[in-house]
Amino acid sequence: MLYSIGMEAPYVIANWKMRLSLNESQALAAALHTGVPAENGTVVVCPSFPCLTSVAAALTEMSVMLGAQDVSPDELGPFTSEVAASVLAEVGCRFVIVGHSDRRARQGETDKQVEQKLSAALRHGLTPVLCVGETATERKRGETVNVIKRQLGAVPAGKEGRIIVTYEPVWAISPQPPATGDEAAAMLSVINETLKGTAAAIIYGGSVSLQNVTDFVAPKKFAGVLVGADSLKAAEFLAIIAATRRAFAFV
Ligand code: PGA
Repeated sequence: MLYSIGMEAPYVIANWKMRLSLNESQALAAALHTGVPAENGTVVVCPSFPCLTSVAAALTEMSVMLGAQDVSPDELGPFTSEVAASVLAEVGCRFVIVGHSDRRARQGETDKQVEQKLSAALRHGLTPVLCVGETATERKRGETVNVIKRQLGAVPAGKEGRIIVTYEPVWAISPQPPATGDEAAAMLSVINETLKGTAAAIIYGGSVSLQNVTDFVAPKKFAGVLVGADSLKAAEFLAIIAATRRAFAFV
């Protein structure tokens, strides 16, 4: 896969999770690569592992980049079912989601593992998209700020500038309702203060739709969005990309 575009805000990153078949993944990638203008921001799609190479082949027009949904903390070796960062890079990935709440909740992924995964991704030139965010219970207990600071502790020292941080409150992931712009903005400040303004970008995730995307994205707000459910239909996702770019003052 050949890319000529650089990485610049706003970022619109699609997390397809385990929702699409191979055929559906290829068709969606094909629709996006003809529909996304190759300028004014960065668009990334994150298919499931077996779909990466086919989606990579559909994205040769350079307007959409490829990401994975997870990565092994280890280098190539005897680790059944894991996928190495070096192989993700080989198949054309430039990004990888790390520490998504699905992984933390379903696989019990720890902050230590998240840290190791961030390091593995960086060793192979991948840009990690680190997800941080509190659960509904943590929120009720008033632990939100502490949880976010603790999760940000996984960022390897000195590497902040190579990492995109996503504030993704677990209670706001669809089918739950999204956070409000103000709730999210409060955590944007916490992340900025904790990382001393050095993250490559800070984006928002959690039930992002065409209706609410501009509550979050603006030059002085979040530098983009991580989109799950509403990234699965080309027309809807393209409209979110367009709205994000308008909000960032690109027309
Ligand atoms: P959602 O998913 O947009 O469907 O809420 C976002 C995510 O979990 O990354």
